[in-house]
Amino acid sequence: MTTDWLGLKDQVCVVTGAVGGMGTKICGDLAAQKATVVALDRQADPLNKLVNHLKDTENVSALDVVCDVTDEASVQRAVAQVKAAFGRVDVVINTAGILKFDPLEDLDYATWKQVLDVNLNGYYLVTHEFGKLMIAQKHGTFVHISTVASDIPETYSGAYSTSKAGVNMLSKQVAAEWGMFGIRSNVLEPCLVKTPMSAAFYADPQVENGRKELTASKRIGTTQDIANAILFLASDRSSYVNAAALPIDGGFSVMMQNQIPKPGGRRGFAETH
Ligand SMILES: NC(=O)c1ccc[n+]([C@@H]2O[C@H](COP(=O)([O-])OP(=O)(O)OC[C@H]3O[C@@H](n4cnc5c(N)ncnc54)[C@H](O)[C@@H]3O)[C@@H](O)[C@H]2O)c1
Repeated sequence: MTTDWLGLKDQVCVVTGAVGGMGTKICGDLAAQKATVVALDRQADPLNKLVNHLKDTENVSALDVVCDVTDEASVQRAVAQVKAAFGRVDVVINTAGILKFDPLEDLDYATWKQVLDVNLNGYYLVTHEFGKLMIAQKHGTFVHISTVASDIPETYSGAYSTSKAGVNMLSKQVAAEWGMFGIRSNVLEPCLVKTPMSAAFYADPQVENGRKELTASKRIGTTQDIANAILFLASDRSSYVNAAALPIDGGFSVMMQNQIPKPGGRRGFAETH
C-alpha cells in the first residue's frame, strides 16, 4: 500500500473556522499529509500563528486568509487570494460556525439571524464563491461540518439546529447540481465533541459522564475523530461518496430505544464495567 494513501499531498485545501477546535486539528492533519493548507478565519493573530506553526513543523506551503464568511466581498477577496497564490482550489472544508444559547421564547430576532448568517449564509457564500472556481477547473470537493442536531433539535440553542439542517440541504443541492462538473459535496455530522465551542458542556464532570453514557461508544468524541473522517471525505479515497451525511457521534443518534426503562431488562453500563 502506498504511504500517501489519502493522496492529499500538494492538494490545495481551504479550511474555514481554521483556528477553532476542529479547524486547528484539521489544518494540522492536512499539513501532516503534506497538503497545501489555506487557513481561513476572522481571527488574524491566531491564524498567523497557526500558519507559521504548520510551515515550521510540517514544511508545507500554507496561507492565512483573514475573512469574515458572512461578508460577500470578504469571501470574494479570499478566493482571489487563493487563486493568486496557487491558481486553483481542490478541497473546501466549511467549519466556521457559532452557537448561541436561548430558549425559543426568549430568543431575540437579531441572535436568530446572526446564527443563520454565520452557519448557513456563511457556508453558502464560501461554497458559492469557491464553487465557481471548481466549476471552471472541473473538479473539487466540499466537506461541510454540520451536526447530528441538524436532524434532532438541539433544545435551547436558538437557530443552531435550523441553520445546520439548511447546511445538509445545501450540500445535497451542490452535489446534485455540480456533480457533473466533477465536484463532490458531503456533510459530516459530529455530536458530543470537546472543543472551545462545547467547553461549557464539559465543565462539570457529572454532566460529562452523563453525556458519555448516552453514546453507544461510552465516550466523548475528540477533534482527532473528526479530522480522520474529514480527511477521508476530502480525499479521492471517497471518490464515489457524494451528497452523503456521515454521523460522527459514537452511535449517540441510535440510542433512543436504549433510554426506554425496561423492567428487569438488560443491565446498564455502570453495572457491567
Ligand atoms: N464542538 C462540537 O461538539 C460540535 C458538534 C457538532 C458540530 N460542530 C460544528 O463544528 C464546527 C466547528 O466547531 P468547533 O467546535 O471547532 O468551534 P469553535 O468555536 O472552536 O471554532 C469556530 C471557528 O469559527 C470561526 N468563525 C466564527 N464566525 C466566523 C466568521 N463570521 N467568519 C470566519 N470565521 C468565523 C471562529 O473564529 C472559530 O475559529 C462548527 O460548524 C460547529 O457548529 C461542533
